Amino acid sequence: MSESPLSSSSHALDLGVNERALADGGTTAHPEWVKTLPRVPYLKTYLRIPPARSLQPEALCKLCDVEDWAAPGFLARAKDVLGEGGSEPVFHRKIWEFTKALTALERGGFLEDSRKCLSVAGGHERISYYLTRHISRVALTDIYGDSSFATDEASDRILQDPSAFAPYAFDSQRLRILKMNALKLFFPKNTFDFALCLSSIEHFGGMRSALRSLREMTRVVRPGGYVILTTECSLNGFATDEVFLPRQLSHLIRKSGLQLVEPINWGLSDRTLTYLCDMKRDSTSQLPHINLKLLCSVFTSICLVLKKPGELLDSLSEGEWDQRSQEAASQAERAWNIPSPGLTRFLTHRGRVLSYKIRERLACQDLNRDHRMFSVAERIPHYRP
Ligand SMILES: C[S@@+](CC[C@H](N)C(=O)[O-])C[C@H]1O[C@@H](n2cnc3c(N)ncnc32)[C@H](O)[C@@H]1O
Repeated sequence: MSESPLSSSSHALDLGVNERALADGGTTAHPEWVKTLPRVPYLKTYLRIPPARSLQPEALCKLCDVEDWAAPGFLARAKDVLGEGGSEPVFHRKIWEFTKALTALERGGFLEDSRKCLSVAGGHERISYYLTRHISRVALTDIYGDSSFATDEASDRILQDPSAFAPYAFDSQRLRILKMNALKLFFPKNTFDFALCLSSIEHFGGMRSALRSLREMTRVVRPGGYVILTTECSLNGFATDEVFLPRQLSHLIRKSGLQLVEPINWGLSDRTLTYLCDMKRDSTSQLPHINLKLLCSVFTSICLVLKKPGELLDSLSEGEWDQRSQEAASQAERAWNIPSPGLTRFLTHRGRVLSYKIRERLACQDLNRDHRMFSVAERIPHYRP
């Protein structure tokens, strides 16, 4: 089993955990460990997201916030998906993403024995293994072995040996792993009760590809089913090739044929705004791992829970689903083709990276120097909803 940066309890912060908050499943309103987090105020002045009316740690469609760990049931669920019985809260946005997705599934009635899940660009993610204990079938798809993640998060070894990457016991009869491009899902329409696409849509090659894959997810999910996305959202008005602006996310949602289950809450607590992890300088296991800076962009995770219009009826039978997924697997295998980027796309990408570096020099000099605010914040356009 590969060592996940999240799997080691040595990465958890020693915060003097409030055992009571854990014992009651995290229902204590303001556990002591939240109050004891260190504070280094700098990020607030520099935020470029719309103002939030109020913080709602229990909301589903929102940005990642340390206060969410205090939402009812959050800690218990996070602990469950981590599967390690550790008592410390792990302030990592990946744990947050899994936990928000599970919360949405639970509230929507999707954690039932008959349900069928599609995970798009799922790599070896632990939530897919976790779901096999609760629902009928999980199709875990990715371009295994053929992406830049082939050596860590999406090794093709999983196709032969799913248990090699299992974080804990799972039901192998319920897990089907398929090599499939997110831009062309070979399943018939209305096959799944819900689809997950966690920290992946930003890697599909830009807005056009992101929209294409989102529409594919819309097609294969049953009416009334969910598509749960987590992705990177810019906080400072700068997008890069793998970070979306809020307005780009709104565009994707508008064009997807899906509807948000609730309005997006753009709130971030003062406490959350005191952290920044510089991906070039800081270790990726540094906690809290919430707000990140890469090139000119400061960003964090956003969770979007989307619903396909209609009423959710019964799931497909297992026999029918197994047949569909068998056919999809052989079609995907026959049609396997990931076009190489080509010289023009490669040069365009290099050009864009250079422009991000120049913007970083111009706009983030103070932040780079000592993690303080922009000196030229006025140059950066505010987000207009
Ligand atoms: C950051 S990893 C996230 C993996 C997993 N969802 C998780 O949360 O651990 C991004 C994943 O996107 C996959 N990916 C990139 N482009 C893809 C494509 N066109 N189709 C399917 N998967 C793709 C990569 O192989 C990689 O596994």
